[in-house]
Amino acid sequence: MLDQWLQEHAGAEFDLGSSTGPRWTVGELLALTGDADRAARELLNLRVHYPPTAGAASLREAIAAMQGVEPGAIAVFSGGGEALFHLFYVAAEPGANVIVPHPCYPAHEVLPEAFGLEVRRYHLRRENAYAVDLDEVKRLADRNTKLLLVNSPHNPTGSTVSDAEMQALHDFAAERGIQFVSDEVFHPIYHGPATQSAARLPQATVVGDLSKALALGGLRLGWMVERDAARRHAYLNSREYVTVSNTPMGELLGEIAIRHHAQVLARTRAVTQANLKLLEAVMAESTPVLDWVRPAGGMTAWVRLADGGAARAFCLEALNYGLLLAPGEGWGFPDHFRVGFGVGPDWYPRAMQRFAALIQAQAGRPARA
Ligand SMILES: Cc1ncc(COP(=O)(O)O)c(C=O)c1O
Repeated sequence: MLDQWLQEHAGAEFDLGSSTGPRWTVGELLALTGDADRAARELLNLRVHYPPTAGAASLREAIAAMQGVEPGAIAVFSGGGEALFHLFYVAAEPGANVIVPHPCYPAHEVLPEAFGLEVRRYHLRRENAYAVDLDEVKRLADRNTKLLLVNSPHNPTGSTVSDAEMQALHDFAAERGIQFVSDEVFHPIYHGPATQSAARLPQATVVGDLSKALALGGLRLGWMVERDAARRHAYLNSREYVTVSNTPMGELLGEIAIRHHAQVLARTRAVTQANLKLLEAVMAESTPVLDWVRPAGGMTAWVRLADGGAARAFCLEALNYGLLLAPGEGWGFPDHFRVGFGVGPDWYPRAMQRFAALIQAQAGRPARA
């Protein structure tokens, strides 16, 4: 539903609807190596074959070094999306349930539902700054719970789970024999206290990717940190029936990005910090039209119409200002919308001027019925 809306309005002047970061070109990635010509020759001489299903050994080593784990624990996929697909597919069995946040990245509920799993939701509440309520999670779990999923930094709210909370959630799941999954594709982009990767926790399954914090979605590369050999084997076996492997071109470029992740992340951080400052300035002037909880991480903000009105109408009006926003109804929150702030360092200031003008015009209108 969200993708349909975004594609329908893709011609908008300023795309604030997606959750992506600043753009990279292939040339810029090759230049990260310090010898772009040599890297380009390597790319041109690549054999176009199937890489190993788990990912090339050197790529897994690079990811493992970044995550601080053994290379054997890494399995590569075609994006975090594919990793999630196999996670839920393998978890599915009659009568089983999974626990996921609400709101959530849509695949966190659509995939388990499609595989016949019961989906139980813990609520990230605005009045609680979208924090995870551990007691609620505990109440939802029972003998048939297969998997508990945490997403930090969270899409769409931008909330984060502290190290102590992550540890408590992990320990609770481990004690109950429930698989603990941390989707951290927006890690380590923080706008407040930074938190650690859950890869440090012995029983955690971690989902990471190149698309979000590393802003290279077109490479379609994601991974799992999975220390449990039987589970890892099951995911890779399942993968052999779907995508089989990544492409050698994507793996080569992805490995360059991961080996130089400090530089790649620095660009995402610079853009998100500058853009969030602009967005904050507009939001500070936005009462009585809008309210929000400032995102603590990631590159999306979750904004509410203060009078509880329909965000879809607001987003339609925004299109007249050249702004593509993502209405919250796809997440089950018709009075919210999502604003991205990882994109367009060159045009974001102009987009924020338009956003301010839109809010001002709305403030002049009589309250909605
Ligand atoms: C929380 C979360 N997890 C996973 C993904 C999957 O992204 P990709 O398949 O591009 O790695 C996304 C994409 O938006 C996301 O927001």
